[in-house]
Amino acid sequence: MSGCGRTRCDGTERPPAVVRLGPGDAAELAGLERVCFSHPWSEEQLAYGLGTSALHALGMRGADGALAAYCSFYCVAGEGEIVNIAVLPGLRGRGWGRALLAAVLQSATEMGIDRMFLEVRRSNEAAIGLYTAFGFVRTGIRPRYYPDTNEDALVMTLAMSGPAPGSSHEIP
Ligand SMILES: CC(C)(COP(=O)(O)OP(=O)(O)OC[C@H]1O[C@@H](n2cnc3c(N)ncnc32)[C@H](O)[C@@H]1OP(=O)(O)O)[C@@H](O)C(=O)NCCC(=O)NCCS
Repeated sequence: MSGCGRTRCDGTERPPAVVRLGPGDAAELAGLERVCFSHPWSEEQLAYGLGTSALHALGMRGADGALAAYCSFYCVAGEGEIVNIAVLPGLRGRGWGRALLAAVLQSATEMGIDRMFLEVRRSNEAAIGLYTAFGFVRTGIRPRYYPDTNEDALVMTLAMSGPAPGSSHEIP
């Protein structure tokens, strides 16, 4: 890694460092959930989940120090599930989601996970594009899975072997 700070040597912006989040971050996480999802997790749900050994979350903070992106995931008995990934609307399309997912897959690999799956709304082109870029493939459909719109969920799965694409740094 070069010493060019938050700007790459070619002038483009580098995503911020990925940090581990815990129960103490639940209030901020719930705020981000409310901005990004129609059915957000509550602060209580997040605090409880992140207090268990099964749910994990990694995040990124913006220049002002506020939480601006996060991904939560389960790792249980060798299998992982991406629960949610979100980047603040004004910061999308800058590679933050890609950097976050790379860090999550690296972390899951270190926890001994060899298969990761997730559910995503059929219409969510941005998320499907992100997951596909990492090698997730569609392995199933849950018809009318989302009660608010009756939309189908696509099940996507990644068989993991070795380090995640683009992953190279330690997570503090
Ligand atoms: C999905 C999400 C996390 C992507 O984050 P992001 O920071 O904008 O994504 P990135 O800039 O890192 O893009 C990485 C890749 O994702 C895909 N992607 C991102 N936005 C896309 C879009 N609007 N359409 C299609 N593909 C897209 C592309 O493959 C992109 O790679 P590329 O830039 O080389 O083409 C973001 O759109 C988001 O927060 N959405 C709302 C919450 C949500 O729906 N989460 C998913 C729940 S399952």
